[in-house]
Amino acid sequence: MSISNNCQGSSGCADIYATVARNQPACERYWQILLRLPKQAQALYAHFTPGQFVLLDLRNLGVPDEVPSDLVHKADRSVILRRPFSPMQVQCGPDGVEIELLYKVVGPATIRMTSLRPGQSLRLLGPLGKGFRIGPAIKIAILVAGGIGLPPIHHLSYILKRDRPTVRLEVFIGAKTANDLPFLGPDGRPTRMQGMPIHLTSEDGSIGTKGLVTECLLDWLAGQTDLDPGTTVICGCGPAAMLTRLAKIALDKGLSCQISLESYMACGIGLCQGCVVPCKGKDGPDYRLCCQDGPVFDAGQVDI
Ligand SMILES: Cc1cc2nc3c(=O)[nH]c(=O)nc-3n(C[C@H](O)[C@H](O)[C@H](O)COP(=O)(O)OP(=O)(O)OC[C@H]3O[C@@H](n4cnc5c(N)ncnc54)[C@H](O)[C@@H]3O)c2cc1C
Ligand code: FES
Repeated sequence: MSISNNCQGSSGCADIYATVARNQPACERYWQILLRLPKQAQALYAHFTPGQFVLLDLRNLGVPDEVPSDLVHKADRSVILRRPFSPMQVQCGPDGVEIELLYKVVGPATIRMTSLRPGQSLRLLGPLGKGFRIGPAIKIAILVAGGIGLPPIHHLSYILKRDRPTVRLEVFIGAKTANDLPFLGPDGRPTRMQGMPIHLTSEDGSIGTKGLVTECLLDWLAGQTDLDPGTTVICGCGPAAMLTRLAKIALDKGLSCQISLESYMACGIGLCQGCVVPCKGKDGPDYRLCCQDGPVFDAGQVDI
């Protein structure tokens, strides 16, 4: 395994061979993969921030025998670009770095990803981008995840609980249906993020409160009288419509809000200009790069 430092556009990232330690289904459409990076990667990942991401090279993988029936038509499409994933856990230990990803099988690259077996290796470029920034004044962090936005929110909750135990966490998780929620125990409660107040919602009411996660948040906010805008932050990751609504809710309540945006990415390091995010500048429109200036942006900064 070798590290080649070819990230001219980004500080402190490397293209590394990662080894698959585990790759298994987490629920109907989600898989969980554990990747191991060699010791040399420790320095790079020691200060990994939740919301940062890695790009996986999945180009040379074959299509597995089992493909969900509604995705068969996508399976043979070629995979040209690397694919971005925000880890749900990053652990640096004496033997190297472990990166845990949670991925939803949606198209040709993620279909191929399910074929990876322990011991196989793949190229991984990272760490990339800028993650969530929780300033020292923050006392309440409201974390909101929708769909495949769960991994970085899970990571953020873990890091805050570990490093900032006095910060009060409120976690809102939304899914279309119960089958779309990984890590559910037999009692219907998440087996991860234990000991945190978790507000579950599903659009069809099959688990938690029926409805959209943003409306659940709004109901909860209506009952809070002690939220100080100076010490409260909302952090969100999920579909674009959810993030737009979240930004509006935060604005109406006068709360600061950070959102992790999704964009097609090619290079991941600011070279191809393929991931432009329209932002509001002081003197008019401003354009930022999702891979380098984000994917986490202040909601007030983005033109959504
Ligand atoms: C910063 C970031 C972090 C992400 N983290 C996760 C994660 O933790 N778990 C997870 O399941 N998914 C995550 N995604 C989304 C994931 O990258 C896409 O689902 C994946 O690339 C789909 O590839 P595909 O070939 O299987 O499907 P496709 O059919 O190619 O794509 C399905 C959808 O995925 C998106 N997509 C496809 N290619 C890219 C690309 N090169 N860059 C960005 N988006 C793309 C598009 O919205 C597309 O409509 C993240 C995306 C970004 C930008
Ligand atoms: S992906 Fe190339 S500049 Fe952002």
